[in-house]
Amino acid sequence: MKIYDKPVIVIGVLIFLAIFAFPLWTALGTTPPQPKVELPKDMKECVAPTEYMKSSHMQLLNEWRDSVVRDGNRVWVSHTGKQYNMSLTNECLRCHNEKSKFCDQCHNYVGVVPFCWDCHTYPKEAK
Ligand code: HEC
Ligand code: HEC
Ligand code: HEC
Repeated sequence: MKIYDKPVIVIGVLIFLAIFAFPLWTALGTTPPQPKVELPKDMKECVAPTEYMKSSHMQLLNEWRDSVVRDGNRVWVSHTGKQYNMSLTNECLRCHNEKSKFCDQCHNYVGVVPFCWDCHTYPKEAK
């Protein structure tokens, strides 16, 4: 290698590093929008503590479904002693009545598409 090749190598390395780091420095300026969930305005509490709901609402929905379908039991007693009707449409969406501003916000963000709505309905939403 001749000595006058050096600048070319340095430039090559710099270009390589710039391309290599590309996902990093584009991510800095453009973080994807955080999910904006619209919480029920006239209600204070969910059917279980909020932190639990954030992390484990899918398990809770499974429990509800099993209880209804296997045991025919539709009454859920919450941590505060309140009774709820174990129903996706009639209970969750009674309070969270705009699916697109609640469930969909998070699910689109993380890229999950629950198939529940193939069978279960949700209230018609105002356009
Ligand atoms: C009685 C009304 C009511 C019912 C029924 C209800 N929720 Fe909630 N939910 C709320 C309220 C109010 C909050 C906000 C609580 C807070 O701010 O701490 C909430 C919070 C949540 C959150 C956390 C959202 C966040 O980012 O803070 C999730 C997830 C959730 N609910 C899912 C569900 C699911 C799934 C069901 C049915 C199994 C359900 N909810 C039933 C009223 C309800
Ligand atoms: C605060 C954000 C948030 C809200 C609000 C929310 N979800 Fe979720 N949900 C998630 C995340 C994150 C996952 C994926 C969890 C995982 O893959 O471990 C998920 C997964 C699920 C799943 C399992 C889907 C699958 O294919 O595994 C169901 C069912 C579900 N959500 C129902 C609901 C319903 C119904 C509502 C509205 C009443 C709702 N969620 C609102 C964040 C949310
Ligand atoms: C192939 C159709 C189908 C799909 C898909 C489906 N369900 Fe269901 N689900 C049913 C039927 C039928 C019942 C029994 C209805 C009853 O007895 O009220 C039921 C009952 C339930 C119940 C209790 C009753 C009620 O009114 O909600 C819950 C909770 C439930 N399902 C949650 C889910 C969730 C969460 C998903 C997605 C992860 C899902 N289901 C997907 C058909 C389906």
